[in-house]
Amino acid sequence: MSSHALLVLFGSQTGSAQDTAERIGRQAQRRHMRVRVEALDIINDIIFIFVFNMPPLFVCATTGQGDPPDNMKKFWRFLFRKSLPADSLCRLDCAVLADVLLTKLFFVHGCILIYLYIFLLLLRPNGVSDPWLISFWQKTLSLYPPPAGLAPLREEEKLPPRYVFHFLDEVPDKQTEHLQTPPTPLQPFPARVVFNQRVTHPSHFQDVRHIELDITGSNIQYSAGDVVMMRPCNAAEDVEQFCQLLKLDPERYFTLTPTDSSTAAVPARLPQPCSVRFLVEQFLDISAVPRRSFFEVLATFASNELERDKLLEFSSAQGQDALHSYCNRPRRTALEVLADFPHTTVELSIDYLLDLFPEIQPRSFSIASSLLQHPNRIQILVAVVKYKSMLFKPRKGLCSSWLASLDPSTGDVYVPLWVKKGSLSFPQDPDTPVIMVGPGTGVAPFRSAIQERAAQGKMANVLFFGCRSESKDFYCRSEWEEKVQAGQMILVTAFSRDQEEKIYVQHRVKEQSKLLWDLIAKKNAFFYIAGSAKQMPASVCDALKEVFQKEGGMSENQAQEMLDAMEKAKRFQSETWS
Ligand code: 2AM
Repeated sequence: MSSHALLVLFGSQTGSAQDTAERIGRQAQRRHMRVRVEALDIINDIIFIFVFNMPPLFVCATTGQGDPPDNMKKFWRFLFRKSLPADSLCRLDCAVLADVLLTKLFFVHGCILIYLYIFLLLLRPNGVSDPWLISFWQKTLSLYPPPAGLAPLREEEKLPPRYVFHFLDEVPDKQTEHLQTPPTPLQPFPARVVFNQRVTHPSHFQDVRHIELDITGSNIQYSAGDVVMMRPCNAAEDVEQFCQLLKLDPERYFTLTPTDSSTAAVPARLPQPCSVRFLVEQFLDISAVPRRSFFEVLATFASNELERDKLLEFSSAQGQDALHSYCNRPRRTALEVLADFPHTTVELSIDYLLDLFPEIQPRSFSIASSLLQHPNRIQILVAVVKYKSMLFKPRKGLCSSWLASLDPSTGDVYVPLWVKKGSLSFPQDPDTPVIMVGPGTGVAPFRSAIQERAAQGKMANVLFFGCRSESKDFYCRSEWEEKVQAGQMILVTAFSRDQEEKIYVQHRVKEQSKLLWDLIAKKNAFFYIAGSAKQMPASVCDALKEVFQKEGGMSENQAQEMLDAMEKAKRFQSETWS
């Protein structure tokens, strides 16, 4: 292994493991190391680790159920491969900042862990890695000593940016910004917005949109349960404010070159040449709550003493509680932080924009339509996220607010998208009934399933839908009524606020115990739950177990066993989101 070098590999779902990995990358640079920071998925063969010829440090988060993050799934499968020799990693010095299972796997494969400390990164994302890192650097620098006479750079000292911007004097002729098919994360299909309708009553607290997108010519195929992926754009006024704060002309074009082409490539999603507007509107995540590394980089620009002290505090291990109160709790955006540190912001060099801001991440929506009923179309149901925090301006969800703003009556508007297999799958056998519990926008995948199944002549569909009020947020009502009339489905509704006491979908599940028992125990029905994950999924499971106990004469344990068996056989599936 090459001495005094470090390959930082991260598996990150929400971005905190990536942020930690990038911070470690910068700490390595301060120690004059050759460093490369990559998502774990670039490694799907062990040979790659040796190709890089740099000792690796694995920084991995764990998601909800202990699953590996999306960008390390390939690597995860690779570690579990039967054909992988038990000692295949035995020549490897590595360090692991991850959870117990991953660390054990490295042991199994014979790694020499040069420094080991186990913790769950996601449980306490900020600050927890500091003590680990102090020991890590001691150990690493004793194994791979720095070149003689070179002292580490201090935190306040600027590192070179990852990329250098070269501004063009003219606007290029050919616009390369709108990429064409086939639809992939790098080349999404620009789907035209056909309609964008509010489906909740104007007096209702929540704006829910029914949006139809035209995918003619995309070759996109999808089936019930699949999800559509898209990256939102920053709001026009935020792009404007950002450019003003940094004194940037949004209409200027530039090309990028990596400072060190052996460790970084130009992000594939950025066209070359690229306009400042494209970069700010579609690439830089200026609307998210910034993470610790943002403050670390910003601090290196601060010459105003007050601002510098504050930024250094937020970058330090001791300042993490203060950073949480300033940023995370009120959900302050990176753009708002820049406005709070005006002296530092004007001093920022554009070359550092890609070091400061992460890329806008794709968002997923359950598809709410079927190609069998709506050829060449994708429909989605979107709850527009808006809430209050301690800050004056209401907080808005970036993607849902962007979607809500796309108004087809003002001209052609497009959503660049691609489609991914979802986690829900529906039975092939036409006689197998499906029972679906989808309150609120949780109904989306079930609308797709009912449309698809009805078109295929599969009539045994039971939908439990819950909303607050029959008159305010009972969307898709006329469609359900038609399908009930046509004998294509049974609909059971729970309106939580149309009476004194709350009525939820789980109450209706219990009331329908005879029907459900008949379908599940005698007709082998599949049972599905979708919706926002708070108490609802657990309460629906409890209600279902009560049905088993009441109608099947089972004990609590037996009911649990039956539910577990259904889950194993994929007859019980759920898709929840927060
Ligand atoms: P509520 O807002 O009146 O509490 C869609 O959001 C529907 O799901 C609403 O009627 C909402 O009711 C309901 N809901 C909220 N919490 C729930 C829970 N724990 N279980 C089932 N439904 C719930």
